[in-house]
Amino acid sequence: MQNGTTITQFIIEEQRHIEDATGDFTSLLNDVVTACKVISNDVNHGALFGVLGSAESENIQGETQKKLDVISNEVFLQSNEWAGHLAAMASEEMEDVYPIPKKYPRGKYLLVFDPLDGSSNIDVNVSVGTIFSILRCPGECKAEPSADAFLQPGTEQVCAGYALYGPSTMLVLTTGHGVNGFTLDQNIGEFILTHPNMTIPADTQEFAVNASNMRFWEQPVKRYIDECLAGSDGPRSKDFNMRWIASMVAEVHRILTRGGIFMYPLDEKMKAKGLGGKLRLLYEANPMSMIIEQADGAGHTGRERILDIKPEGLHQRVPVILGSKNEVEQVVRYYQEEAEGKAKDNAA
Ligand code: AHG
Ligand code: MN
Ligand code: MN
Repeated sequence: MQNGTTITQFIIEEQRHIEDATGDFTSLLNDVVTACKVISNDVNHGALFGVLGSAESENIQGETQKKLDVISNEVFLQSNEWAGHLAAMASEEMEDVYPIPKKYPRGKYLLVFDPLDGSSNIDVNVSVGTIFSILRCPGECKAEPSADAFLQPGTEQVCAGYALYGPSTMLVLTTGHGVNGFTLDQNIGEFILTHPNMTIPADTQEFAVNASNMRFWEQPVKRYIDECLAGSDGPRSKDFNMRWIASMVAEVHRILTRGGIFMYPLDEKMKAKGLGGKLRLLYEANPMSMIIEQADGAGHTGRERILDIKPEGLHQRVPVILGSKNEVEQVVRYYQEEAEGKAKDNAA
């Protein structure tokens, strides 16, 4: 494509309407975009760059790290630490907050990210992505920020986005004024606006869930999926289709493109381990929920709106149910009905 709007131009023009904008945010986003281009190049070259396979280390979540998990994390740190826009960073791949090295100036924003999401797909050449979220550093961030600075509800996000390394590399972004998608033109090295004002239809007939966990699910999720599976013979009176890529970024991108519902619900296995869910609030659930809500969809745990959760830890996990609004609301209704049923039983 020629003469398209580049992502830099798009952001500068969007920020022009914001009073007191210093250009800091625009510049920070530029560095994030550069990091995504570098990761895209690594992912695209795969075995040619020797980046596939396991790094033989574990992250804080106890997951075996892929080489590309570690490389992408380094790329993000190096791209974003030097310019003076950030007070600190946090990532899926680091237990603690990453303070900005002393040799660089400290800025007013916080960056939190999942450098490579869906990394179990990397060795089989299936789409992976990067998820990021930008917050303001609370107070004036005079001292080095601790994890507490990051523990802000998702409603406080200044910007959320993801890069999808698929057949084409895309970057999808919101600053709270709708959702826009850009495609990387590999020839000129620029993201070009190709998907303006992305919106999600309120209704859908497509769900995404790891059905191998079905026997561990909570009753409302089981009820919802059972009804989808019953199709036109069941209470929903329509047939549903299923997809599971095991890459949340690819899943969310499909939903933004043609609607759908994605769930990684709480289950008995997680509860037994004392986990609140599978996906992480700060760098998976929150940025994706902001994008989904900005595109007219909904993001919920079944019990509360994801963006309203007051985080308690950097790597906190939450149940995730997001996508087409009417379907998410249907699941939430089943949670409410279950809670009301239990309350009645207790009263009796
Ligand atoms: P990550 O690769 O960053 O650890 O995240 C993977 C996540 C998410 O992208 C995906 O939806 C889910 O884990 C897949 O889980 P299963 O392997 O249980 O299907
Ligand atoms: Mn992830
Ligand atoms: Mn990851």
